[in-house]
Amino acid sequence: MRALAIVACAATAGCGGKVGQGGPPLAVVEIIGADPAETSLGKALFFDTRVSSSGTTACATCHQPERGFSDGKRFSQAASGATLPRHTPHLYNLASMDVYFWDGRATSLEEQARLAIENPDEMGGSLEALVSKLSAVPDYERQFQAAFPRDGITTEAIVRAIASFVRSLVSAGSPYDRYLEGEADALTESADRGRGLFFGRANCSACHRGPNLTDGGVHNTGVPGDDRGRAALDRVG
Ligand code: HEC
Ligand code: HEC
Repeated sequence: MRALAIVACAATAGCGGKVGQGGPPLAVVEIIGADPAETSLGKALFFDTRVSSSGTTACATCHQPERGFSDGKRFSQAASGATLPRHTPHLYNLASMDVYFWDGRATSLEEQARLAIENPDEMGGSLEALVSKLSAVPDYERQFQAAFPRDGITTEAIVRAIASFVRSLVSAGSPYDRYLEGEADALTESADRGRGLFFGRANCSACHRGPNLTDGGVHNTGVPGDDRGRAALDRVG
């Protein structure tokens, strides 16, 4: 599985620029088997508003690097002005997940990228239309040829490139990461008390555990609201 083949940056010093104010540095990682040409093409697409049908929205409009690849809002705004029904999540450490979206409806980052491109409230386009649009841009023509020499610009190549970029986003170097690496005083006293509660009496770790502090599952947390989440997909109730 690709997910297990991540080489995290060996030392904090080797990790890239700061993310957010006082946030953890963004790790420079190498995903074994990932092609750098594919990942850098995915990065270009992620930040390019031309990927949306309106030409005004990029993935990065909602997933902003300086805000942990979210946007700091409770709910993001669609290009149409509509308010999205769910909070925009961060995009860190997703390579090792098995399902995506709050309800787990996508089972790969490629499928997720396709749904984001075609969602009317997100990029609002169609992948087929995007193939012709990008084919008219010489710089993309060249980058797709470099990353996908056999097929050039295809719907498959677009979602593969974007998914490769998303896979490369890995957080590292937080005080808790350093604590796990054996730096005994990496956590403040208060954070260390919180850690005790989290894994102890508060039992957050019943669901939030493992390297990503998640079990990857979908749970009913008892939060009231109209969003039926996973239940709508599983036809429960
Ligand atoms: C208008 C805001 C908006 C735009 C634009 C947008 N997203 Fe999102 N993204 C969201 C929201 C909201 C969710 C959660 C939706 C849900 O769970 O139903 C999400 C979920 C995701 C997830 C799942 C994360 C997880 O932890 O499961 C990924 C990956 C992602 N987006 C990548 C992208 C990519 C790639 C693009 C561009 C092709 C994009 N997004 C464009 C708002 C946006
Ligand atoms: C029964 C399982 C479960 C337990 C126990 C639990 N959580 Fe969660 N937590 C979830 C789920 C599921 C979500 C995603 C929420 C959603 O889909 O609306 C979540 C979301 C979160 C988030 C938001 C994450 C994000 O990316 O936006 C935080 C922070 C959080 N939990 C902290 C805690 C803390 C602190 C505790 C202990 C006091 C705790 N959780 C206990 C299941 C749980």
